Amino acid sequence: MNANMRIIRRAAGLRGEVSVPGDKSISHRSVMLGSVALGTTEITNFLEGGDCLSTISCFRKMGISIEKKSDTLLVHGKGMHGLSAPGSILETGNSGTTTRLMSGILSGQNFNSVLSGDASLNSRPMGRIITPLREMGAKITSVNQNNCAPLRIEPGVLHGISYSTPVASAQVKSAILFAGLYADGDTSVTEPALSRNHTELMLLSFGAPVTTIFHPGGSVTAKISPCEELFGQQICVPGDISSAAYFIAAGILVPDSELLIKNVGMNITRAGFLKVCEAMGADLTLLNKSITGGEPRADILVRSGSLKGTTIDGSMIPALIDEIPMIAVMAACAEGTTVIRDAAELKVKETNRIDTVTAGLRAMGADITPTKDGMIIHGKGALSVENTPLKGARIDSFLDHRIAMSFAVAGLAADGETCIRNSQCVDISYPGFFDTLRTIQGE
Ligand code: S3P
Repeated sequence: MNANMRIIRRAAGLRGEVSVPGDKSISHRSVMLGSVALGTTEITNFLEGGDCLSTISCFRKMGISIEKKSDTLLVHGKGMHGLSAPGSILETGNSGTTTRLMSGILSGQNFNSVLSGDASLNSRPMGRIITPLREMGAKITSVNQNNCAPLRIEPGVLHGISYSTPVASAQVKSAILFAGLYADGDTSVTEPALSRNHTELMLLSFGAPVTTIFHPGGSVTAKISPCEELFGQQICVPGDISSAAYFIAAGILVPDSELLIKNVGMNITRAGFLKVCEAMGADLTLLNKSITGGEPRADILVRSGSLKGTTIDGSMIPALIDEIPMIAVMAACAEGTTVIRDAAELKVKETNRIDTVTAGLRAMGADITPTKDGMIIHGKGALSVENTPLKGARIDSFLDHRIAMSFAVAGLAADGETCIRNSQCVDISYPGFFDTLRTIQGE
């Protein structure tokens, strides 16, 4: 069988313990801040997925030594001004986080650089970072003048700004805060709702003066003051809740299942998926709660059960944006209607996820209507002996890791056989995903 093609069959009860890989967002940030800090940053449970490996290779090209010693990634930082000019293009692969966050750091350097990714990455919007970074004084241009990567960055003198971003985006916020490290005054960024705050938490632990102000009405400002140096840290990356979401959904949807998903990051700016599961009536129990480096974590015990439709909108969206493909599959296997709105950001992810989720779910026989900023799904009820809400189908991932994994889980709850084409893209965020899927099926 072609390694890019995966066949998934309807599953009987799933059992076992799952340790999902380290959080992608936190892994990226740990290498970025470790590289521009003084001293060595020691990272455990680092995600060795394609996107984070792109970040590592970019910093290696700028003279940072990054090595693996048993389970620990060591980043030998050279301080705020210790990066050196890369000898070639900084290849960012499929990774929006690498491209956007590094643009902020590179805007403060005294050398030229070019960031470029794969076809998907180079078609995603970069105007959202170009505009504020230019306002700060950065010399950043879209090489093809289409507001997309490749991006060329030349040395500029950065000033502090107060910027209001129309979208709640952690990538935009982080690019501005990282540039703010190199600015001559305070920099603040206000977003309409709080997006994931790993950057703020990690900057604080590396010694940067960062504050967060919550405004009446829901908007939030993150502010950073210029700083002389950051200092290397020990970081234990929690399991990625976005990766845990696939196994939580699988445990809920496949009858007679019980799964324990260990050491999952529970940061409230990421945990929207759990709230939706709860609103849909899922049986989840949190165990062994703890907090490390400001990041809460817990084990999640999931048992199968039936779901009901729900509405997902407004300020809930940033805390679950990456989980919407999985939620859509769950909604197709729920009683009643699920409405997802205010999620136009789905259109500018690795694929247009309104389109790719609609195509996949329709192929599996679900009742889904795409809308301008989300989707409406009329669920067909839980999988049972009498009811199969989804039927097996050929699904193209369109090289989008979250589409591949969401539909692999759909395949477990579908009648017949589901074939995921271009499935290798799961390596972007979850190498070993299909092995774990087999293990919990007792294979
Ligand atoms: C991320 C932020 C989100 C998310 C992406 C990772 C990050 O993107 O979708 O997978 O690590 O900052 P936006 O900031 O564009 O919403």
